[in-house]
Order: sequence, then C-alpha cells, then structure tokens
Amino acid sequence: MEKPVSSCKAWRFSSNGIITDSLKIHDIPIPSTPSFPSRVLRSLLKSYGPHPRILIRVAAASLNPVDYKMIYPGSAAFLVRKPGIPGSDFAGVVVCALDGGKEQLEALGLHVGMRVYGHLVTEWRMLLGTGTLSQYIVAYPPLILPMPPQLSFEECSSVFLAGITSWQALVKVGKLKAGQRVFINGGSSGTGVWAVQICKAMGAYVSTTCSESSREMLAGLSVDEVGDFLPP
Ligand SMILES: NC(=O)c1ccc[n+]([C@@H]2O[C@H](COP(=O)([O-])OP(=O)(O)OC[C@H]3O[C@@H](n4cnc5c(N)ncnc54)[C@H](OP(=O)(O)O)[C@@H]3O)[C@@H](O)[C@H]2O)c1
Repeated sequence: MEKPVSSCKAWRFSSNGIITDSLKIHDIPIPSTPSFPSRVLRSLLKSYGPHPRILIRVAAASLNPVDYKMIYPGSAAFLVRKPGIPGSDFAGVVVCALDGGKEQLEALGLHVGMRVYGHLVTEWRMLLGTGTLSQYIVAYPPLILPMPPQLSFEECSSVFLAGITSWQALVKVGKLKAGQRVFINGGSSGTGVWAVQICKAMGAYVSTTCSESSREMLAGLSVDEVGDFLPP
C-alpha cells in the first residue's frame, strides 16, 4: 500500500496562450473530491453510470493536439476551466478507490498497486480543470484498463484518445475486414499512426500520405503505399 500524501505537483495553466509558455509547475492538493460545478457535468456523470472514483498515481502522461488547442487563444479556450491541468491520457498505478474499498476495486478487475492505463473524459476534464499532467489523478472506470505486461508506462500513456478514435472509425463504424484496401489521409498524424497499424494488424492493404520527413517512420509500420500530400 502506498503512503498517503496530501499534495502533489502538476503542470497548470492560468490563462490562454501557447502551451509551452502557459504551463507552470504547481503544488496542488491530492485530488480526492472534485467538485461538480455545473448541471451539465452532473448530467454527464449520470450518463456514464455510478462508477466509483479511483485515485491513480500517474507514471506517464501524453499530450494530444486537443490539449494545446484548448488553451490557445481564439479556440474553445473559453470553455475550459482555469486554472486547469491539461492531459487526457495516462498510465500509472492504482492507489485506492475513493468510493468504497478493496471490494469495489476487485469487482472492476482492479487492485491496489495494479499498473493501469486510461483516459479522462474530455468534457469532465474541461469543466473540472483536472488533467493527467499531474502526479495524482482521479479516474473513472470503464476508462481504466490493466496494462499489458510487455508495454511500458510511456507506451501505454499514448494509447487512448488517438488509438480509440482510429479503432472506432475503422472497426466499430467502418467494419474493417481483412483484405480490404484502405486509404488513410495523413498516416503520420496522431490518429493516422494508429489507423495504419490497426489496418495492417487486421490484414488490410494500406495506402497513405505524409510529408517527406515522415516517410521513413511510416515505412517502419509496413504501409503498402505512401504518397506525398504536397504537389511536386
Ligand atoms: N489526435 C487525436 O487523439 C484525435 C482524436 C479525435 C479526433 N481527432 C481529429 O482527427 C484529425 C487529425 O488529427 P490528428 O491529431 O491525428 O493530427 P495531427 O497529429 O495534428 O497531425 C496532422 C498530420 O496531417 C499531415 N498533413 C498536414 N497537411 C496535410 C495535407 N494537406 N494532406 C494530408 N496530410 C496532411 C501531417 O503530416 P506530416 O507530419 O507528415 O507533415 C501531420 O502528421 C483532426 O480533425 C482531429 O480533430 C484527433
């Protein structure tokens, strides 16, 4: 069992701007009882069901384009609570269930000390101002999964948002099947890299586009055809 701590460090922004200029390290209280400030958020939580809150010690977190776009002036920044902590994806270790105890964790297939990875729902994150660039976070099942033992914290922390987006588009909605020919516009993008690998793993033929500097990386993912999206 980990020693209880009362504060932790997090990267936080207080105003809109370029993410690299806006983020500063702050000491924050360990998140335990996030306040639910709005009716919108309460109804969102309701729609996700009565899940217990799980305290996670974050070992690695990744940034997606949405994280800097949300802070950038003129974007949807006005929707984001400030001060706020960016980051949706994480990998870390289960500290405890904040609602209930060991039994609640076990019922979810989790246990204290378990290596897990997952995602904080974007709408909650924006409204609560909490994100994964923090040493501790509160996360909710079912968006917490046990880590495959062969993968590192860093690898698992980059899976969720871009990976699930591509999976939903190709497999859930697109009903991808082995042998199909798929064109992925921008195979070097965050979602594109996942889309290429999902297609190849499922036995599809993949054509894609990228700029010159990304060709080598895509060749390493065994794409079948790569074209430059810029005119010659
Ligand atoms: N990232 C996510 O988790 C996520 C989740 C949900 C939805 N989305 C949506 O998915 C879309 C793509 O986002 P992303 O985050 O995957 O992109 P991204 O990581 O920002 O990458 C953009 C890519 O587009 C390529 N590109 C630039 N100009 C192009 C052109 N004219 N034709 C073809 N490719 C071009 C670039 O290739 P080079 O690097 O080779 O120059 C770059 O890799 C966006 O609409 C985004 O809102 C993203």
